Amino acid sequence: TPISLWGGRFTGGPSRALAALSVSTQFDWRLAHVDIRGSHAHANALHAAGLLTDEELAAMHAALDRLDADVASGAFLPGPGDEDVHTALERGLLERAGEHLGGKLRAGRSRNDQIATLIRMYLREEARHLAGLTLDTADALLAQARGAGESVMAGRTHMQHAQPVLVAHHLAAHVWPLLRDVDRLRDWDRRAAISPYGSGALAGNTLGMDPRSVARELGFRDSAANSIDATASRDVVAEFSFVMAMTGVDVSRLCEEIVIWNTKEFGYVTLDDAFSTGSSIMPQKKNPDVAELGRGKAGRLIGDLTALLTVLKGIPLAYDRDLQEDKEPVFDQVDTLGVLLPAVAGMVATMSLHLDRMAEWAPQGFSLATDIAEWLVRRGVPFRQAHEISGACVRAAEERGVELWDLDDEELVAASPLLTPEVREVLSAQGSVGARRGRGGTAPERVAEQLDEAGALAADL
Ligand code: ARG
Repeated sequence: TPISLWGGRFTGGPSRALAALSVSTQFDWRLAHVDIRGSHAHANALHAAGLLTDEELAAMHAALDRLDADVASGAFLPGPGDEDVHTALERGLLERAGEHLGGKLRAGRSRNDQIATLIRMYLREEARHLAGLTLDTADALLAQARGAGESVMAGRTHMQHAQPVLVAHHLAAHVWPLLRDVDRLRDWDRRAAISPYGSGALAGNTLGMDPRSVARELGFRDSAANSIDATASRDVVAEFSFVMAMTGVDVSRLCEEIVIWNTKEFGYVTLDDAFSTGSSIMPQKKNPDVAELGRGKAGRLIGDLTALLTVLKGIPLAYDRDLQEDKEPVFDQVDTLGVLLPAVAGMVATMSLHLDRMAEWAPQGFSLATDIAEWLVRRGVPFRQAHEISGACVRAAEERGVELWDLDDEELVAASPLLTPEVREVLSAQGSVGARRGRGGTAPERVAEQLDEAGALAADL
């Protein structure tokens, strides 16, 4: 039988249409476990305030434990008459503790401070889980980077060959954003660790309960300083949502490169069969669906953030029912990254990079032109002039359809008398990367340090 939380001043129940619009158990039931944890803490607060006897407290905890077990086993489920997770669990408690004792738990709390607390508890748990999955993806990239040794590839800007880089350097460039995403979650947690419990509907509670002890019991570092803010704000949810969207975008950029690398024309990578799909009509096809879904899911993750911010933008203080719309976007993000990250980590861990092919392309497309200019600079030529001279070499090579190292001595001198044959020393990809020895650069010893640094940070996060 459905229970109502507000019988008193109403003469009839809600219309079918209202109930259908209002119901949220289909998505908020995942909060049942944290709801019950909150109820245990609230019962302790009522007891401390002298509103539950020792016996009542013990019976309340026992009933809540039974309810929790029944929720876990599926023996207790929300029914068609339950508006939300709180309503359903109140019915479950009344069934187990009886009307008299069960009816006491609602004192001094509102669904408004409850839901604002529960969403934080839930997201804090999920943040730890998702941080772990993000780190697994970073670890898979780091392992590939270590495996690539000192191999080189064409570094690109505007998708054009720019300068040679170490394959490990490029792969590590996908690691750092993921580590920052994890760091964002850690940093976010400090702000999320404030408990709205005790704020009541909006103005605080009159029953002499101590929100701080409830906060501590539920793993928060403090209770909220402002009960209106605590029940009305969802910026903590939006910030979590941003990190989810950002992680999706970071993964998407990696995925896009893998899609490109996996083409016949690039031939940089072969994906493991376990992380590829076939075609129902073209027998030869082996498709990078994991990477494509990684790209596609980013769109969805951004959409969730957009939906949430749009819901929030016009809501007056304090609680309004619009705030119920905060949950589905972030739940969708949690679920989406929960399946995406393990697939991407697996794809990365099992892919084989064709390092020979990557190295073959590294110096081509005049990607050593900067090295000629900098060779001249080291001989005292102003960079503006050196840039011109190197550009003339590129023009000469392009006209003859050759690469820079194919230019003969006369062609070099024609570009500038300063270009002696020794310039050829820098005209190799290995020479080029070896010269970029500043911190953060692509020289093998710097990249080795970088991988250690990233590995240590990942272990630390
Ligand atoms: N289910 C609501 C939510 O998710 C919480 C209930 C508060 N409802 C209310 N009418 N005060 O935000």
